[in-house]
Amino acid sequence: MDNRKPVTLHRLREMHAAGEKIAVLTCYDAAFARLLDGAGVDALLVGDSLGMVLQGRTSTLPVSIEEMAYHTGCVARGNRNAWIIADMPFGSYQESAETALRNAALLMKQGAHMVKLEGGGWTASIVRLLVERGIPVCAHLGFTPQSVHALGGYRVQGRDEAAARVLCRQAEELAAAGAELLVLELVPAAVAHELTGTLSIPTIGIGAGAGCSGQVLVLYDMLGVTGGEPLKFVRNFMDGSASVESAVRKYVAEVKDGRFPDDAIHSF
Ligand code: KIV
Repeated sequence: MDNRKPVTLHRLREMHAAGEKIAVLTCYDAAFARLLDGAGVDALLVGDSLGMVLQGRTSTLPVSIEEMAYHTGCVARGNRNAWIIADMPFGSYQESAETALRNAALLMKQGAHMVKLEGGGWTASIVRLLVERGIPVCAHLGFTPQSVHALGGYRVQGRDEAAARVLCRQAEELAAAGAELLVLELVPAAVAHELTGTLSIPTIGIGAGAGCSGQVLVLYDMLGVTGGEPLKFVRNFMDGSASVESAVRKYVAEVKDGRFPDDAIHSF
């Protein structure tokens, strides 16, 4: 029996204020939504990583807003209490603020509680518009997969002083525009730690070290079903677990008590 209260924006702010780590996993369907929610995951990210994980594509770029809306609806129907974040896919917010608003509204109608969009600088005005129209926004900086070609592949971002400064400035701008969460992907642990200490909103790291306010992993990676070489920042929580549910519970517990990630192993 799951007795926990629904995770709301207010609850996420409380957790941040209290220093409680936020445990997030990607989720793309109703069955896993039910399981992850029941295992205590705070937020389910309907990531456009589904293009690679579910559809077998080589990047997230081909994913459409219709596909994101479909999977967001699936997750929302399986979920009871977790906070649901839905990714705005490539091309769904770059054209104009009006297009972004229309597409974000599609995801919210399917049951998202918040939308996520990638990048800094020009995105701040989009974030502001969505927030003013009542749509909570999660920002995403560091390695942003929709820009994989512009970034020259899967690389750690913010390694040198100047790049780290730009990243921190963009994070401040996004928070000032009303973003309520910030995903930091493939960022040196020291940079993410320092930014987390100064930023007013929680940071959710993936390959960004233990100093973030919370962590996210791609579900299939942490269950060890993705295949190929394991990524440095991923841990296979099925190792030593008797079931998927106990692997997820272990992930939540280790994020909460700071055992995952281990900066000596999983960070840059
Ligand atoms: O699409 C996704 O799964 C993501 C995470 C990698 C943060 O954006």
